[in-house]
Amino acid sequence: MKIVHTPDELKMLLKDAKGSVGFVPTMGALHSGHQTLISEARKANDIVVVSIFVNPTQFLEGEDLSSYPRRADADEKVCELSGVDYLFYPEASSIYGRDEVSLKAPDVRGYILEGTSRPGHFDGVLTVVMKLLNIVRADRAYFGQKDAQQLMLIQEMVRQLFMDVDIVPVQTVREVDGLALSSRNVYLSAPEREEALKIARSLKRAGKLVMQDILSVDRIKVEMLAVLEPLEVEHVAIVDRAFNPLETIEIDNTIILVEAMVGNTRLLDNIWI
Ligand code: PAF
Repeated sequence: MKIVHTPDELKMLLKDAKGSVGFVPTMGALHSGHQTLISEARKANDIVVVSIFVNPTQFLEGEDLSSYPRRADADEKVCELSGVDYLFYPEASSIYGRDEVSLKAPDVRGYILEGTSRPGHFDGVLTVVMKLLNIVRADRAYFGQKDAQQLMLIQEMVRQLFMDVDIVPVQTVREVDGLALSSRNVYLSAPEREEALKIARSLKRAGKLVMQDILSVDRIKVEMLAVLEPLEVEHVAIVDRAFNPLETIEIDNTIILVEAMVGNTRLLDNIWI
């Protein structure tokens, strides 16, 4: 595995690469969810590139940019053992300059749900993902379904800007007790982690109701909110795959999402129906 620090060097190395390139953009603190993304990329491509970049533009003022977990050595080992060919580890100064062009997320779908609690977050995500995709020029790029709104917005960006890369969604990985893996789980104390399980439980409850043919969005939300008590819930939302609100669950076209604060930690989870 080669570790690369600058966009120019990576572009140069990949210019003459033979075969398909799979790309996994990350912010590091790699866990089994990231390993699954990498292994999907490994299965389908000749060359695998992983980036680790804690992107400052997607953090709002007062968020956890400075405390976001950084684990260079452990991450490097994970990548090495997962068969990554190039680990891209840029400095912020090689990605961003002054007085820059940037992308803006769509007015509606970029500013609902997580976009309401974190206005501008998705502008930063789209800008950095666009930059990274332009550097790597991958055939396929892999994103987790756990960040469903991010995934949808990246798919929209690629479609609307006529970009030549396949965006491959990868299923959420969970702990045995159901907690969705997230780099931010390290912030949770033991009692908070216990509380956080309510998020996955509320989604499980929703899934059970759907299996019982209870498809009313209002009814499902009420039941989910009861399971989530007393967490500070940012939203429980039930949308179609394009993030339009639904009144009734549509099988094979629905995402049920939860965003909640557990202590000071913002957690997201969802299920796809
Ligand atoms: O999902 C993430 O880890 C980040 O939002 C991403 C896609 C790497 C962009 O910084």
